[in-house]
Amino acid sequence: MPSLPGTPKELEGVEKALLALSYGVHVIGSRSSDGTLNAMLADWVMQVSFRPRLLAVSIENDARTLRFIRETKVFTVNLLHQKDGVDIARKVVMPSEAKKVKGRSEELASKVIDKLATIPYGLHENGCPVLDQALGWIACNAVEFFPVGDHTLVIGECVDGERLRPGEMLIERELGWEYGG
Ligand SMILES: Cc1cc2nc3c(=O)[nH]c(=O)nc-3n(C[C@H](O)[C@H](O)[C@H](O)COP(=O)(O)O)c2cc1C
Repeated sequence: MPSLPGTPKELEGVEKALLALSYGVHVIGSRSSDGTLNAMLADWVMQVSFRPRLLAVSIENDARTLRFIRETKVFTVNLLHQKDGVDIARKVVMPSEAKKVKGRSEELASKVIDKLATIPYGLHENGCPVLDQALGWIACNAVEFFPVGDHTLVIGECVDGERLRPGEMLIERELGWEYGG
């Protein structure tokens, strides 16, 4: 039966099961070839090999972050801290390019926001942002790009990294937002 406008969408079984997966909350730091920096909120990050140390990040095909990583082949993965990661997540969740949000007027769509403006960070020697408040960070060279539906799976070789603080990583369930289904 077609649903009435305004009726909350009934979740399919497969969506409910996929939404039950657990994720940590990360910020992907990137830079373009002209040195512009970006930060993006990402759940879909995991280690996929010991030797060499590789991790995979699945990134929306129209994300500015993906364009930057294709240009420079480097990025950082910042693990958000359970204690204060939520504030950072709020600051980086919007797309940097307003045109990524459907239905924006032409004038609004041309706007680009600097998500890092109020977040303390330094730069790794690869030029990508490392957040001062991260639980830890990993610097990667992007070695492969696989198209996977509406995302691209970026395989990063982990060339450097550090655990900065004691404590636990922020997980998606604590953040209260969902990315999955
Ligand atoms: C909880 C949460 C998790 C997210 N995880 C991912 C992810 O794993 N991959 C992705 O491409 N986008 C993810 N997003 C959406 C991106 O953060 C969003 O599209 C971002 O604006 C892209 O930024 P950019 O265009 O500035 O690169 C997530 C959003 C939320 C709210």
